[in-house]
Amino acid sequence: MSKFGKLYGIGIGPGDTELLTIKAKNVLNSVDVIFTPRSAPKRDSIARKIIEPVLSVRAQIRELTFPMTKDRGELEKYWAAAASEVAGILQGGKNAAFVTLGDPFFYSTYIYLYRKLKEEHPELNVVTLPGISSAFASASAAGVPIAIGDEKVAVIPLSRDIRTIRPYLDMFDTLIILKVGDKLRGLVEALAEAGLLTNAVLVQKVSQAGDERIIHDLTKLTEDDLNEVGYLSTVIVKTDKQ
Ligand SMILES: C[S@@+](CC[C@H](N)C(=O)[O-])C[C@H]1O[C@@H](n2cnc3c(N)ncnc32)[C@H](O)[C@@H]1O
Repeated sequence: MSKFGKLYGIGIGPGDTELLTIKAKNVLNSVDVIFTPRSAPKRDSIARKIIEPVLSVRAQIRELTFPMTKDRGELEKYWAAAASEVAGILQGGKNAAFVTLGDPFFYSTYIYLYRKLKEEHPELNVVTLPGISSAFASASAAGVPIAIGDEKVAVIPLSRDIRTIRPYLDMFDTLIILKVGDKLRGLVEALAEAGLLTNAVLVQKVSQAGDERIIHDLTKLTEDDLNEVGYLSTVIVKTDKQ
């Protein structure tokens, strides 16, 4: 048996504590240390709010900061620091969890940590537990079935060059568009051009108590919506091919 502790990368769902898996709850109550990510030292950790109601055993909670920057060099420093902090805990024989919103292997910062640990500490045991992704929670909340039969689905993190979504609208039956944020206006223009604005739904902060907002038919968006939609927003488009 290894003298080292184990790391559990745990997907904790999109916001509602009741969307945690039973396994996630059990593991969170079994580990010595729980690492929670946040994007700035003074920002509230959403992840922490989700898990707190189910914690019955007092694990030590440690916050790890991952800034919202695209500067690869800058991010590398934070991932390396996080990996060495986590490795230190496991090498001391303690078990730890790293919690992450939605699913851990779906566009999550956890993947960088996971890769760093695999590269630099292959001796350490890392187990990943799936979570309910915001993409699936958004579709359920909006009442939009993602796919049936032979339908094809594309998941697209929206890039600055919005026109790149055009071929996906032609090829797929459903588009799940992530990372909409300040690109909503451009997305709306592209969907209007394709005649698909009424087929699209915007879901903001799905399953986050009091903050969830769902707008069916994007012709209804107000000027404020176009200016203020936040990072935790997803657009689902049915292209009605079948
Ligand atoms: C970096 S990805 C993380 C996805 C996450 N791992 C998951 O499985 O839900 C962030 C993007 O996911 C979507 N997202 C995350 N949480 C959300 C929420 N509560 N409501 C709506 N969309 C959300 C947004 O499109 C956001 O820009």
